Amino acid sequence: MIYDKHIFICTNQRAADVPRKSCGEAHGMGIVEAFKNKLKDLDLPIKLRAQKSGCLDICDFGQTVVIYPEGVFYVGVELNDVDEIIEEHIINNRIVERLKLENVRAKRAQ
Ligand code: FES
Repeated sequence: MIYDKHIFICTNQRAADVPRKSCGEAHGMGIVEAFKNKLKDLDLPIKLRAQKSGCLDICDFGQTVVIYPEGVFYVGVELNDVDEIIEEHIINNRIVERLKLENVRAKRAQ
């Protein structure tokens, strides 16, 4: 494995006349920059990469981020969630349960 943590941030932007939501409309690139800047500032002693990705096909749940090797999908990610994801998931290896796809999906189904 090349990276200890590999973060993919959806920045997909659909054409204006396509009704399906896309992460790039909100702040996909802003989230990418926030991850990159924060990780650069922290200069953690692990191998990390944060990068943009195409559609991860869970568009209806809002801004999507997936982190490997755990394969945890976070949805509805806002700029002010980036610090918590880095602090919890990247540094402390704890899942941010409130943003995890399965939990958000279950909450919506209630
Ligand atoms: S547009 Fe981001 S998951 Fe589909």
